[in-house]
Amino acid sequence: MTAVADRLTRVHICSYDDLTPELGVAAIVGGEQVAVFRLADGRVFAVSNLCPFSGAAVISRGITGSRGDVPTISSPVYKQVFSLVDGRCLDTVDKSPLPGHGPDLVVHTVSVDDGRVTIDLLGS
Ligand code: FES
Repeated sequence: MTAVADRLTRVHICSYDDLTPELGVAAIVGGEQVAVFRLADGRVFAVSNLCPFSGAAVISRGITGSRGDVPTISSPVYKQVFSLVDGRCLDTVDKSPLPGHGPDLVVHTVSVDDGRVTIDLLGS
């Protein structure tokens, strides 16, 4: 008997040059809102666009920064700080996430090939 493997789908988002350093963009990928960031050092990250504290799709409008070596994004309204590397909420600003939500952002594997930005989506 063979296990059914999860299927990885690569979804093209935009070209690398379309991304303005330090400014996020929102994309709908597989029906899900994703926030994509190109940092000043050229790295690209993708996390869920939905803020788990407000339920608003605003993370792409957040402010990039860092905590030590970790690149971060602060949500634009209540200013929670999330790691862009693993999505972990580094500062809840004394608030709780919405019921049914954890405090962290989902992280998507993003790659840049030949100037094209793609996100890996796990399908079934
Ligand atoms: S952006 Fe409003 S709570 Fe996070």
